[in-house]
Amino acid sequence: MDKLIIRGGNPLLGTVRVSGAKNAALPCMAAALLTDEPVILENIPQVRDIETTRKLLAAMGAEVELGYGRAHHRTTICARTLAAPEASYELVKTMRASTLVLGPLVARCGRAHVSLPGGCAIGARPIDLHIKGLERLGARITQEHGYVQAVADRLKGAEIVFDKITVTGTEDLLMAATLAEGETIMQNCAREPEVADLAALLHAMGAKIQGAGTSTIYVKGVAKLHGAKHRIIPDRIEAGTFIVAGALTGGDLNVAGCDPTHLTAILQKLAETGVKTTLKTDSVRVMGDQPLAAADLNTEEYPGFPTDMQAQFMALATQAAGTSIITENIFENRFMHALELVRMGANVKIEGRRAVVRGVTPLSAAAVLASDLRASASLVLAALVADGETIIDRIYHLDRGYEHIEEKFKAIGAEIRRVGDIFPKRAVAPAHA
Ligand code: EPZ
Repeated sequence: MDKLIIRGGNPLLGTVRVSGAKNAALPCMAAALLTDEPVILENIPQVRDIETTRKLLAAMGAEVELGYGRAHHRTTICARTLAAPEASYELVKTMRASTLVLGPLVARCGRAHVSLPGGCAIGARPIDLHIKGLERLGARITQEHGYVQAVADRLKGAEIVFDKITVTGTEDLLMAATLAEGETIMQNCAREPEVADLAALLHAMGAKIQGAGTSTIYVKGVAKLHGAKHRIIPDRIEAGTFIVAGALTGGDLNVAGCDPTHLTAILQKLAETGVKTTLKTDSVRVMGDQPLAAADLNTEEYPGFPTDMQAQFMALATQAAGTSIITENIFENRFMHALELVRMGANVKIEGRRAVVRGVTPLSAAAVLASDLRASASLVLAALVADGETIIDRIYHLDRGYEHIEEKFKAIGAEIRRVGDIFPKRAVAPAHA
């Protein structure tokens, strides 16, 4: 199992380029199921979740080409025939976003057999709102043996009001509604940029959508969608992670190829802690030459401060003077990184959905364990400023959502390397020895 070894103390300098957004690429790949024509997606990040989605679509019978040549990160997906409209537990358990195929399969094939995602490190993460919305569109849904079985002759447009704001729930039902008969109005929708990016692809495929990116989305169903070509938006969470890294290490870092308009809440919160940034249309320059001050944080749905940046902000808060109170309002168990940060010397107390961080605490290198994608990012950030060499284990979590992470950090001055098992398993001595 790969590990990252990071020696802290280097300021990050120069330019790092942001990859395409994983959380936009995943729904866009699922959208290719809605048509029998080729869908070409560019700026696809080379991360594990994309490979998992490639396997998922190919298992259904779609033709999926995925290339990361120098010039482009591109996938071409052609779901001409879908012999097996299903998503197996083996794949869904490794990536809960697989449930994004539910809506497209019911809309395109009239049936879907998708494994329930099961538990997740950061919370229960049910898909009851996806199911309720599909039932509103006329799908007949049963659940047994850990799978959701959905059947519909043809989905019919309806009014849907989400009990809670759900990103992939909005995306799943938006895709289903594009082929439903008649009009669908969806209210209390997620407003994340990834939803608007999916809608841009669907529009290019011939869908009739208004209001994507706002809390109310109107869809006029069409009989058929055609192929299209679309470029995925930059990853705002990767951009935010590097901006925090530049601030934390006292660097001077240009985060290029991002969309600063997607980063408003992140940049505003960082400004509150004393981080200086200057913006251009597609880049953010961060200067970490100021001492950091504590700031409270509430994670909220977009355009509020994203939960996917909470762990990274906590690493920053350990180096900010004063007490930062971090409240995680989206997921019920998203402080797994806190205990590992404490092992490195951080002062963090967890009280339910609140974490009280007292800084500044010098961090010392330790052997730590990654538990989920963004918790892993938080440990990398802490290691960049810790005294000594930190070993981060189970970094396959990181590889799910960060492309070539050690190469990118190394290129801007971090002392970081990836190794296989550094403590080879000792042969277990026979019991009687
Ligand atoms: C998306 O997950 C992202 N994943 C997550 O990013 C992100 O953390 C999350 O949105 C919140 O922004 C992708 O886009 C692939 P939700 P999603 O449905 O859609 C509850 C990362 O690190 N809920 O918006 O699964 C749910 O339990 C990942 O890249 C229901 O109760 O999140 C949570 O408390 C992690 N019933 C809240 O809503 C449902 O049917 C928001 O979840 C659906 C959700």
